[in-house]
Amino acid sequence: MKKFDPVAYKIMVKTFQNLDNPTGWFDSIYTDAKGDYRAVFWADLEPNPYLLKWLNNSVFNHTACRAIVIGCGVGDDAEALSEAGYEVTAFDISPEAIQLCKNRYPDSKVNYLIADLFDYPSHWAESFDLVYECNTIQVLPGKYRIQARDSMVSLLAPRGYILVSCRSRLKGEQEDDIPLPLDKEEIDGFIRCGLSEESFEAYNDSQEPSVPHFFASYYK
Ligand SMILES: C[S@@+](CC[C@H](N)C(=O)[O-])C[C@H]1O[C@@H](n2cnc3c(N)ncnc32)[C@H](O)[C@@H]1O
Repeated sequence: MKKFDPVAYKIMVKTFQNLDNPTGWFDSIYTDAKGDYRAVFWADLEPNPYLLKWLNNSVFNHTACRAIVIGCGVGDDAEALSEAGYEVTAFDISPEAIQLCKNRYPDSKVNYLIADLFDYPSHWAESFDLVYECNTIQVLPGKYRIQARDSMVSLLAPRGYILVSCRSRLKGEQEDDIPLPLDKEEIDGFIRCGLSEESFEAYNDSQEPSVPHFFASYYK
């Protein structure tokens, strides 16, 4: 298994971004794991606790509702949504990520698929009661971040909810970071798209040193 080298990683991502191929590198992160989902460096290997909190506190009835997980990685959050009662579609642009999910959860009820957020199957439009986004916008550059947000919103059925989990930063700071966290103005783009904010939390995670995050929910 290849050891994660943060400097080489940033150079690779920048190279793809400079070639205007912002999604061309994702599959390499998963193929480098050589079939071991535990070797994917960004995978927490547990569901996002803020997702679980939202599921526990929400008055929304989760059973028989349709959820879609954007850039599902190795599948922890998709499985948590399935456990909560959702009929879950989880997709990733990386074929190797989807294979890792299928190997990891052979009896899963989740429909794991290779798909591109920027070119998803047309019948998905406006058909999900819950859209779950965790850490995808932040690994995209410039105009692709806005396209990604708009594409996520376009998946929402009437009265649907979208949950957005990401690293955060103060406006004007960390402009060259990879991943580039979202600032408040950027995450408020979901409101500018016409959604209403249900909840918004800014918090620091338990890493050493801790990393600031946002977790927000919006409805249509
Ligand atoms: C930083 S990872 C986060 C993975 C997972 N959501 C998590 O929180 O562990 C971003 C994920 O988005 C996927 N991704 C990036 N661009 C995508 C696109 N256009 N369509 C679908 N998936 C995409 C990547 O392959 C990667 O798995």
